[in-house]
Amino acid sequence: MKSKALYTGSFDPLTKGHLNIIERAAKLYEELTVGIIVNPSKESMFSLEEREEMMKETLRHLTNVRVGHFSGLLADYVNENGFDVVVRGLRATMDFEYEIQMAQMNARLFDDKVETVFLMTAPRYSFISSSMIKEVHTLGGCIDGLVPDEILEYMNKKTVK
Ligand code: COA
Repeated sequence: MKSKALYTGSFDPLTKGHLNIIERAAKLYEELTVGIIVNPSKESMFSLEEREEMMKETLRHLTNVRVGHFSGLLADYVNENGFDVVVRGLRATMDFEYEIQMAQMNARLFDDKVETVFLMTAPRYSFISSSMIKEVHTLGGCIDGLVPDEILEYMNKKTVK
């Protein structure tokens, strides 16, 4: 069985859709790392430090999950850290085209030694994205049940400032 898996994203912020994928992947693999991408050119609501802190707090019940970060190529992070598997969540057919391109390019960069594995996002979360969550929340809409409680607290603090 493949044992060292990686799940990546911007997680600005982490949603229940992401959490659902993380909890399921944590059951499939001995060790799962959640890798937060550092992208200085992308404007984010939360800094890398905040995203790491929020992630660690939300995932504290998962003993085989670690939190890390990376910049540059995903394939370099994978190759340097010896991951066996990259986990991706698929929300709908719209994700498929982009994901297959990325998986095939990464397969080349991984020298075919690492597999990309897709988990279907739970239908109740298949319509959400971090941007949509931020927009609705900033404009005063209700996002209860779409982000973990810990994340909602951080978002509330941010918008009150
Ligand atoms: N539930 C809810 N939302 C989800 C989700 C799920 N299961 N899966 C994805 N999403 C959301 C994300 O929050 C994100 O929302 P946003 O665009 O509003 O922020 C959106 O869907 C897209 O997700 P994703 O494709 O994972 O984008 P990302 O920005 O979070 O992460 C990387 C992208 C980091 C995986 C990718 O850009 C990468 O690997 N970059 C490194 C550079 C590299 O190697 N490039 C070459 C690739 S071949």
